Amino acid sequence: MAKSDMNSARKLLAANWKMNLDLQGARVLATEVVHTLEQELRTPLPIVLAPAFPLLQAVHHLTKDHARFGLAAQDLSSHAKGAYTGEVAGTMLHSVGCRYVIIGHSERRQYYKETEALLALKIEQARLSGLTPIFCLGETLENREAGAQKDVVTAQLKAVMPALADIPGQIILAYEPVWAIGTGRTASPEQAQEMHALLRGLLNKALGSERAENTPLLYGGSLNATNAAPLFAQPDVDGGLVGGASLKAREFAHIALALANA
Ligand code: PGA
Repeated sequence: MAKSDMNSARKLLAANWKMNLDLQGARVLATEVVHTLEQELRTPLPIVLAPAFPLLQAVHHLTKDHARFGLAAQDLSSHAKGAYTGEVAGTMLHSVGCRYVIIGHSERRQYYKETEALLALKIEQARLSGLTPIFCLGETLENREAGAQKDVVTAQLKAVMPALADIPGQIILAYEPVWAIGTGRTASPEQAQEMHALLRGLLNKALGSERAENTPLLYGGSLNATNAAPLFAQPDVDGGLVGGASLKAREFAHIALALANA
């Protein structure tokens, strides 16, 4: 059964290229992705590409004339500007064509010890820079084995809800169970739907039904051409945040087609 028109309007697919590719590799992949998707997709499904910082401008150049494509950074500074060596400000990202930014990816929470207080500041910087946050959250395997997944994800969302509430335009959430990222293990469609329904309910309570109904809820974690369709068939799974499989244009196109046809 195809999704209702209302649910279809929330569809979005994002590619998280992580710390992969050099300039030449990014140009080749972006060119292939644009070519393949523009040929094969029959609907205006939005596609967001998230390359590493030094590749953003080149990817912007190759995608900017194709309305369905948007550009995301994988992170941004919690500061607006100044003496923060190595950091990248939201306004800089906006100036090179970014309109989205991934915030709170589990790799940043885990390896760089990003706290919820820091993530709230990053969401604020996204707002001040005119970037749509793609806010990631999800439980660890330990959490799930203890049956604590709903409590963990609820706490992760509540911690940044005031910052998200201040965003005047669209926000996007990505539910990415940590045990499914890069592991080849995926949440079952039922597990994903249960968590997405929880997130929709929390948004509804905090931000009202209109915003809750308009917010794309993406699933991420070992999404591939084989497991995408049953996940996207779930009523509250509006799209995906794809890591490994987004580095292969053909496979990414299969995932996009699965979403377009859901
Ligand atoms: P994966 O990564 O698809 O390689 O599991 C997803 C993500 O981390 O966003």
